[in-house]
Amino acid sequence: MNMVEMIEKKKRGQALADEEIAFFVDGLTQGTIPDYQISALAMAIFFRSMNERETAMLTRCMAKSGDMLDLSCFGNRCADKHSTGGVGDKTTMIVGPMAAAMGIKVAKMSGRGLGFTGGTADKLESIPGFCTNLEQNEMMEIVSQIGLSVVSQSGKMTPADKKLYALRDVTGTVDSIPLIASSIMSKKIAAGAPNIVLDVKVGNGAFMKDYAEGKKLAEAMVEIGRQCGRRTIAIISDMNQPLGRNVGNTLEVIEAIDILKGTAKDGMHASLRELCIELAAHMAVAALDISIDTARLQANMVLENGSAFSKMQEWIQAQGGDIRCLSDTSLLPISSIKTDILSSNTGFISAVNAENIGHAALLVGAGRLELTDKIDHGAGIVLNVKPGDYVKKGDCLCTVYSNKCADDAFQWAEKAFEFSETVPFKLPFIYETIA
Ligand code: URA
Repeated sequence: MNMVEMIEKKKRGQALADEEIAFFVDGLTQGTIPDYQISALAMAIFFRSMNERETAMLTRCMAKSGDMLDLSCFGNRCADKHSTGGVGDKTTMIVGPMAAAMGIKVAKMSGRGLGFTGGTADKLESIPGFCTNLEQNEMMEIVSQIGLSVVSQSGKMTPADKKLYALRDVTGTVDSIPLIASSIMSKKIAAGAPNIVLDVKVGNGAFMKDYAEGKKLAEAMVEIGRQCGRRTIAIISDMNQPLGRNVGNTLEVIEAIDILKGTAKDGMHASLRELCIELAAHMAVAALDISIDTARLQANMVLENGSAFSKMQEWIQAQGGDIRCLSDTSLLPISSIKTDILSSNTGFISAVNAENIGHAALLVGAGRLELTDKIDHGAGIVLNVKPGDYVKKGDCLCTVYSNKCADDAFQWAEKAFEFSETVPFKLPFIYETIA
């Protein structure tokens, strides 16, 4: 097999054979293919795309390129969830305990935050003592006992994806649907769950800005799941506004706790709560084989009767976290400088731009630009208003928490708020479910 021939073939728009894809991924993993040929093939795929068979084969090979988690001991009662990332997305910390309280086994590998997209592993490490670096056997033990464990992504999984993604990042080939879909799904397949629920975010604060592209990505990932024998459901949800009220690691942990305790039920949290119910319900549909209506009722019930919150306590304790912080969230340290951003307008809020809020959070240190950057867990933003609210000049739009002077962050936060003289249309939040 010959890389030059494969690049030529893809350049002409022809499909690669399974053996060629396997050869490519093997070379990626072993380091036997030079970076320029890997990049050239990625560029040819960017322009000529891949069919469903090629995309599934690439996924399978990348999934098998490193360690794989074997969750077969849990049978079908096991489900994973994945979000393509956004601003204020703390759903894993809420949906995980909900799903476990419903009897689903959740063994989740989570990433670190990059850019304005946060990572669940970083958020959870805001809880004193919480350990995300567990050995596989420790994780399996916790899942067996309490139904849920969330750890940081193992460095030994999907090495082929790591290599390819790093090269795509510097060669303008990230935004290819088959390459994104196979990259995300290879990690999900390697993580072992027979059922996968994907939250594909679309909007200015998401990786996919455009609904049509988000839908194509969702469809591609569901098809990969089908071809790899994993039941896969994708929910397409809005990321033009931040999700929920708080953005920033510790602040998001606090909001997740409040949702599970039932103390955050007002309009500021409505979309977040609705999405968590939908995600947990779809995990139950797949893992417990129940109808969506029954699953939604059960998801709502575990929130209402406190069993999801109890599950969160068990889980945090099992991973070494200080559970006193769950009863009293004031024990979780927040950055010391608190700045209210006041409205210079009177009128209805027509939008709270997620990208701008994400940018402001990044500037106060809640996120990282490079994977090696340190983050400030206590920094972030608490929103005070949502689209549709009427505000007067001088009202507080949001509060920024930081440990440093952050004038540029204040400007980004302020320009996130858009105004109209009339009540804005309420836009859909969950657009579509693809199964
Ligand atoms: N996230 C991934 O894991 N892979 C991509 O290619 C894009 C986003």
